[in-house]
Amino acid sequence: MVTAQTFVAHVYDKVASVYDWAYGPLLQPGRRRAVARMGLRAGMRVLEVGIGTGLTLGLYPDEVDVTGVDCSSGMLDLARERCGRLGRPANLIQMDASRLQFPDGSFDVVFAPYVISVVPEPVTVLREMARVCRPGGSVIVLNHFRSRRAWLARVERWLSPHTIRLGFRTDLDRDAVFAQAGLPPPTVELVNRPRIWSLVTFVTPGESPSGPPG
Ligand SMILES: C[S@@+](CC[C@H](N)C(=O)[O-])C[C@H]1O[C@@H](n2cnc3c(N)ncnc32)[C@H](O)[C@@H]1O
Repeated sequence: MVTAQTFVAHVYDKVASVYDWAYGPLLQPGRRRAVARMGLRAGMRVLEVGIGTGLTLGLYPDEVDVTGVDCSSGMLDLARERCGRLGRPANLIQMDASRLQFPDGSFDVVFAPYVISVVPEPVTVLREMARVCRPGGSVIVLNHFRSRRAWLARVERWLSPHTIRLGFRTDLDRDAVFAQAGLPPPTVELVNRPRIWSLVTFVTPGESPSGPPG
């Protein structure tokens, strides 16, 4: 049976070979900004959800421990090749982001670049991201959300049933999805050009952001 999730994995298996050409340089400023925001220090553990072909891998400092998960084996194969080319080790695992196979609090930073409008269950994925992030750690979501401008929102609503065939939707409501996930109030910065993508960050409740690993 084709579930919403196997449909998405199949779409990304099919587009893997042209993905970097379509979405590499265009969306790289947002990836750079997100990594700059992480405040990474030696020994920190980062989980990248929906790592795709690994376009962020070259941005992480060497001393950071990177784990990446993705549901598409085709995308992950390219991420593994990139690791080899860059000489940048990373733990790459095929996994569904709505059922992360990690214990609570396993990571200092959990990052989802351009993924939340792709997954069939965005609220579940956000909750899973917060669960596997340690108290006081950062959860960072980089994504396009539905515009607040009425005319643009109408266009995005109209487009969404079409773009879903390409593996993403254009009408996801940022505030609604975070509120439904019951997460702390995030900070939001607009990134890329045009500025229609949001870099959304929140700190998980608990210890201070400057807590472990020390
Ligand atoms: C638009 S791509 C983004 C890839 C990469 N993060 C980037 O910055 O270009 C979305 C990625 O999310 C993956 N994905 C979609 N649903 C997923 C899920 N439920 N669990 C894990 N990965 C998923 C897709 O296979 C794809 O690689």
